[in-house]
Amino acid sequence: MSNAMKVGIIGCGNISAAYMRMAAFFTEYDVIACADINEDAAAARADEFGLDARSIDALLGSDDIDVIVNLTIPAAHFEVSKRILEAGKHVYSEKPFILTLAEGAALAKIAKDANLRIGSAPDTFLGGSHQQARTLIDAGTVGAITSGTCHVMGAGMESWHPNPDFFFLDGAGPVLDIGPYYVTNLIQLIGPVTRVQAIANTPQTSRTIANGARLGETVPVETPTTIHALLQFASGAVVTLGTSWDVQSHDHGHMELYGETGTIYLPDPNFFAGDVSVGTSEGRTVSPAVAHPFAVVNDGDQANWRGAGLADMCQAIRQDRPHRCSDAIALHAVEVMTSILQAAESGASITLTTTCDRPAPMSADAAQALLA
Ligand SMILES: NC(=O)c1ccc[n+]([C@@H]2O[C@H](COP(=O)([O-])OP(=O)(O)OC[C@H]3O[C@@H](n4cnc5c(N)ncnc54)[C@H](O)[C@@H]3O)[C@@H](O)[C@H]2O)c1
Repeated sequence: MSNAMKVGIIGCGNISAAYMRMAAFFTEYDVIACADINEDAAAARADEFGLDARSIDALLGSDDIDVIVNLTIPAAHFEVSKRILEAGKHVYSEKPFILTLAEGAALAKIAKDANLRIGSAPDTFLGGSHQQARTLIDAGTVGAITSGTCHVMGAGMESWHPNPDFFFLDGAGPVLDIGPYYVTNLIQLIGPVTRVQAIANTPQTSRTIANGARLGETVPVETPTTIHALLQFASGAVVTLGTSWDVQSHDHGHMELYGETGTIYLPDPNFFAGDVSVGTSEGRTVSPAVAHPFAVVNDGDQANWRGAGLADMCQAIRQDRPHRCSDAIALHAVEVMTSILQAAESGASITLTTTCDRPAPMSADAAQALLA
């Protein structure tokens, strides 16, 4: 008999298609139903993927659902995740998990009292390349990591997203929208953060939509779009994180971690795969790719294993072990990111109040055990 947990999805927008498409790769869960505040959106996705479209109340009250995935917009994450937990279902949220520490504490209490799990994207750090970098770091290939630089910079989401409003409101901007991939990967590679500093800029007060039905419409910008931050880690490492949606072109690497005896160059943490290379004073060489299921191209020309964190959570529930995309890590990442924004606004250096353990590595065998 199948062990698969039964999954419902709330939020049938852009990213929901990826979750619905990728579900076929994983044995630990089956997506069977979906809902949205916009019932037409739920009906359209249900039709596309052969799911059952339900009202939000009906999905929350469904006896045939174990886990609900929250793919709503960031401003709705807390309320929707709270309702999911109160309905007695495990929740797995898209990033950013929530927007304040108080929200995280409230969800953790409900989950603890009801013996439910909370998981959160991103899960791209489980990708073959980022796990390869983790293996290299843990093996001491470049010695202890003492510093690093990360850059996630581009022109902005209004160029492709048909409804980009939320990207430019509180709860998004490049730090909370793309930062989760970078900050979470840094946490899995070098551990928790203790202190942040930052400076921000907002050069454009509105953005013009360049795709979809609202082409040419402008949306207001209410959150900083260029933020440069400094992160101090518990290990002592110091990392520069440059984020912007005001940059047309640049030539910085996505993530470079400088160790005592060498450098590890990582691909974009927003994706599961890409070259990992190691540099020393002798030169730089691409590290031989290690066979890892979550580095395999499976979606067009991409390795797209979105859903791996959800699959790991479902298996962890069944095996009664911790899951990797945990609320503790997601909450710590949220505190890092919201503290960066506070530091930019106040000019102060901010000491963090949360911490977390690094998630367990995702070996090739562990990844394979999640797959059909
Ligand atoms: N688009 C991407 O490529 C992408 C990638 C990774 C993560 N994410 C994250 O996934 C989430 C969703 O992003 P998206 O691009 O799919 O957004 P979207 O705007 O395309 O879709 C969001 C959907 O949620 C619904 N919704 C909003 N509030 C709701 C509520 N209270 N109850 C029920 N439904 C509600 C909306 O009607 C909409 O259909 C965001 O947190 C985003 O950061 C998006």
